Amino acid sequence: MEGVTEPCFRDLLLECNPPEHLGGAFTEFARVVKLPLPRRVLRAHLGPHRGERPIGLQLMGADLEALGETARRAEEIGAPLVDVNFGCPAKGALRGCAGSAVLAEPARLERILRAVGSALERSLLTAKIRAGIDDTVRLTELAQAAEEGGAAMLTVHCRTRSEGYQPEVDWSRLTRAVESVEIPVCGNGGVLVHADLERMRRETGCALVMVGRAALGDPWIFSGAEVGASEAARFLLDYAEALHARYAASASRIAGRLKQLLRCWRAGGLVGEDPRPWLAERDPARLLERLRALAGA
Ligand SMILES: Cc1cc2nc3c(=O)[nH]c(=O)nc-3n(C[C@H](O)[C@H](O)[C@H](O)COP(=O)(O)O)c2cc1C
Repeated sequence: MEGVTEPCFRDLLLECNPPEHLGGAFTEFARVVKLPLPRRVLRAHLGPHRGERPIGLQLMGADLEALGETARRAEEIGAPLVDVNFGCPAKGALRGCAGSAVLAEPARLERILRAVGSALERSLLTAKIRAGIDDTVRLTELAQAAEEGGAAMLTVHCRTRSEGYQPEVDWSRLTRAVESVEIPVCGNGGVLVHADLERMRRETGCALVMVGRAALGDPWIFSGAEVGASEAARFLLDYAEALHARYAASASRIAGRLKQLLRCWRAGGLVGEDPRPWLAERDPARLLERLRALAGA
């Protein structure tokens, strides 16, 4: 997720959930406008993590040549999966006719995927769509275009672009996507607690599940482990340390990132119903002290 799940956070999630519960992750989208992205930008997205589990590099753009060359570079620097984002509703993406703008034209979606796929020799091509723009009438057509375009897996965020991130979700749309293609479908949208992962698979037949925002409040949502306050606080301290070590991030930047998580934090009873006492802490050092006290460090 853009602005949130940079490599430090992703690596911690992979550390605290075993592979049978968390099989891999994707980077935040890397926006490709007119020129291919430099390798250093792609490396920064991919991060240093080189474990067994795949980290897919997600691209978003509309320029076939720039996307193709960026995908080639992504493979060269070791991305095992290259994913193309067709779900982003942000204005910037729409202005560039990328992200969810492409959902209006399944044939263009297919062309984009072909261009990216033809640049790859070893890495797998995957795609992520929303269920549609304002309605879902073209959902199966979109899923089939992704398959025709060469995607080895398709993630379907079951909300339409107009539905934004609304709490209500209709998982039957995932079933429709699953039934329309042969490739594995990864279901996404509205997973709130660990039990939802299995429920989504059972109810929709999707092969995989992607968790979005709920992982920000409970990094253990994949395994379902119930952690206590000290382990939860330890996670946040490790995250702070990793941000400092990797980016030499300032204390206030680190506090900002921690508050981003604390705003929706559920694990270990650390925050309770009301995150405001945590969010009101203006001194980054005191924020860390509070976490250290809880972690018993
Ligand atoms: C702040 C934010 C940033 C996001 N960035 C991305 C992104 O870079 N790539 C992507 O495929 N989806 C992105 N998404 C969408 C999520 O991956 C996911 O599809 C969406 O939140 C629905 O899943 P959920 O209901 O489990 O949160 C983002 C969502 C949010 C809220």
